[in-house]
Amino acid sequence: MSKPRVLSGIQPTADSFHLGNYLGALRNWVSMQSEFDCFYMIADMHALTVSPDPKDLEHRTLVSYAQLVALGIDPADSTIFVQSQVSEHAELMWVLSCLTGFGEANRMTQFKDKSAKQGNDSTNVGLFTYPILQASDILLYQPKAVPVGEDQRQHLELTRDLALRFNSRYKEVFTVPEAHIVKATAKITDLQEPTAKMSKSSPTGCLMLLDPLKTIEKKIKSAVTDSDTVIAFDPVNKAGVSNLLSILSVMSGHSIESLVREFEGQMYGALKTQVAEVVVAFAEDYQNKVNGLLADKAELSRLMTEGSKRAAGVAADTVSKVYSAVGFVSRGK
Ligand code: TRP
Repeated sequence: MSKPRVLSGIQPTADSFHLGNYLGALRNWVSMQSEFDCFYMIADMHALTVSPDPKDLEHRTLVSYAQLVALGIDPADSTIFVQSQVSEHAELMWVLSCLTGFGEANRMTQFKDKSAKQGNDSTNVGLFTYPILQASDILLYQPKAVPVGEDQRQHLELTRDLALRFNSRYKEVFTVPEAHIVKATAKITDLQEPTAKMSKSSPTGCLMLLDPLKTIEKKIKSAVTDSDTVIAFDPVNKAGVSNLLSILSVMSGHSIESLVREFEGQMYGALKTQVAEVVVAFAEDYQNKVNGLLADKAELSRLMTEGSKRAAGVAADTVSKVYSAVGFVSRGK
């Protein structure tokens, strides 16, 4: 029996993935490969909504691809592809746009938050239709489930609504996907502001996996702790220390309890040294792999093309069913 399909995506909006991306989502992408037929997409079209410099967007797309492979996503087994290389995403999006209510799109909280922050004049329409593009990304591949973080729940609900609406208005074309909300096994927070989620918007508190190893070490050693001296796990009262323990626990495979026992009587400096050692060792190996892949651009581009072609095969099949269901005249063979 064939494995059930999943699809997920990540935007190429930074020069490197960070530790929070890895521990919150990407580690799960790697492990899902054994049980699922995985489609993993680099969402460069979504990244365009923030108007990146073209050179940055291109570089970040390549680096994102290399990083997914370096983490252990096998391009021979999983389909890793670049969104803009599969033209069906834009095609399906138009059809789904015509099925989405203006008010319905206007209720998306991510759009409301972002546009409120930026003001209407610096908000583009792409940001408004972003969730409809995301629904297209998903429905094109007929996945059974979509592994995403809690922040994507509303976009997944819209996707399901659109699939059900299309199926009942026209024809049963789409699989209605389940949201597979990944509860991060460990909540990784900002090193400088340990009550906030780790995010690239806070450079000193965010561990970029492609940062120079010295920088990684320095960021960990400068992590905010507290004026107490006891190494204990208490995310409310000792957020900084608890975050370091969480990082060490997931990266080393040792339970928090065993780490707390091991560090009994020791100072924060000892904990930081060990966290730095484990993270730097991981990053060193990761960086070697990423650099190896980036050194052979021809091979990298061959892998990307292959993934995108495989994705396009599935996507074209869905779009042709959709076009026929809505009444577009067949363009023939
Ligand atoms: N919006 C998602 C995020 O910011 C990225 C994304 C784009 C995505 N298309 C997708 C995730 C399709 C899952 C499925 O994280």
